[in-house]
Amino acid sequence: MICCSLHFECTRMDLISFLKNNLFMQNLAARMISAVPCVVEHNIEKYKAIKKAMYLTALEQLPGDYLEFGVFTGSSFVFAMHIHRKLQYLSKHPTKFYGFDSFEGFGEVQEVDTHPFYTNDTFRVDANKVISNIKKQGRGCQIELVKGYFDESIKGRSASSMGIEKSRVIFIDCDLKAPSAVALEFIKPTLQQGTILIMDDFYSYKGDPSLGVCGAFEDFNRSFTNVEWRRIFDYGYGGAAFILARAEP
Ligand SMILES: C[S@@+](CC[C@H](N)C(=O)[O-])C[C@H]1O[C@@H](n2cnc3c(N)ncnc32)[C@H](O)[C@@H]1O
Repeated sequence: MICCSLHFECTRMDLISFLKNNLFMQNLAARMISAVPCVVEHNIEKYKAIKKAMYLTALEQLPGDYLEFGVFTGSSFVFAMHIHRKLQYLSKHPTKFYGFDSFEGFGEVQEVDTHPFYTNDTFRVDANKVISNIKKQGRGCQIELVKGYFDESIKGRSASSMGIEKSRVIFIDCDLKAPSAVALEFIKPTLQQGTILIMDDFYSYKGDPSLGVCGAFEDFNRSFTNVEWRRIFDYGYGGAAFILARAEP
């Protein structure tokens, strides 16, 4: 043991002295890491967050569906279907994949959601192209894509009227407080002990917990009396994931 740690110390000292004498190494690392675009780094972490949630819920044999609010080009949605296929050997329950998006961006941004980056044109896409790619990539999966602004497509509608009884993994990725609040209200009856809720951009709006996705989640939790969420991890550039540890009876 002592021998081992001495050896480790030696190699660490060797490495430190090598680095001191070869500053090009630190320059190279700085150049390489800064060359990776932040959005790429964040999206890789987003995939890993979905992978963890799908794995953990498969291990628990949690029934229910995957619900994504904010699909955009479908990158995270397609990833969720791919990882589900890989993990199917672990879980006997079928999972349907529901995606909700206007595919036209945010629509009119409410004053409370004003933000320098979340502006209406940022997320307009060719819906037909995205939908057909999702269907192609998700061959063998049950998929339902609901196109429209949440105020029109899900507000005031019950999840069960769309065939959603229980949620396994929910991914809220619509950036703003107003649509996140509509999505959370919609999923409320589908929650069960073990549902994993992933929220992107949880620390936006300079970290103000009353704004953005976090603000919607805080308000949502005030409507419960006997529910316990446990944070299971943070990911990427400001995402957070929670598990419903105790659901209201
Ligand atoms: C950050 S993108 C989603 C990214 C996607 N999950 C991914 O990782 O590839 C946010 C999406 O939320 C959608 N969105 C935001 N507000 C919405 C609303 N009120 N109704 C419908 N869709 C909305 C936008 O159209 C946009 O496509």
